[in-house]
Amino acid sequence: MHQLAIFASGNGTNAEALFNYFKNHAQVRVAALLSNNPDAFALQRANNHGIETRVFDKKQFRESDDVLIWLRDRGVTHLVLAGFLWLVPPRLIQAFPDRIINIHPALLPKFGGKGMFGMHVHEAVKKSGEDTTGITIHLVNERYDEGQILFQAACPVLTTDTAHEIAGRIHTLEQAHYPHVVEKWILG
Ligand code: GAR
Repeated sequence: MHQLAIFASGNGTNAEALFNYFKNHAQVRVAALLSNNPDAFALQRANNHGIETRVFDKKQFRESDDVLIWLRDRGVTHLVLAGFLWLVPPRLIQAFPDRIINIHPALLPKFGGKGMFGMHVHEAVKKSGEDTTGITIHLVNERYDEGQILFQAACPVLTTDTAHEIAGRIHTLEQAHYPHVVEKWILG
């Protein structure tokens, strides 16, 4: 059985889509939901699904093997970032080579990098006047949003769109694709 640990910092709609998709899956199981944010609604969503949770601080994440040991104790094989806002430290990247995936709410390499997350991305897209945006699912390396791209899907940006309307369209795309791309990445 492949065992996923999902990392989320906020609402957790992508985490929820993954919980639902892999419930009763024969080969893939969501083993845990981890967060840097004790108030993340994603934690509540995990509790509702009976999925084990863990909150960590910066020191535990970046300066110790605390999180790594916790993941190993649970037999975690793959890490799935779903709205997780901290840079993944080298110790975790080395422990899970090509086994960490992220979803970004724009068509990378556009609108990526430090500080480009959530609504900041959609506001930048709106401001740029681009008529298209989308989602990117990519492997994670030691730099923000620069790992190998596995999948992209686009959607229109209407001139009348607010950043919130763009976000809504992006969330629909994310939830439709992320679970399938994660499954294909793991099972080939
Ligand atoms: C998602 O749109 C995800 O792509 C984005 O945060 C949102 C989280 O929503 N991630 C980033 O911006 C990472 N740079 P959710 O908590 O409802 O899944």
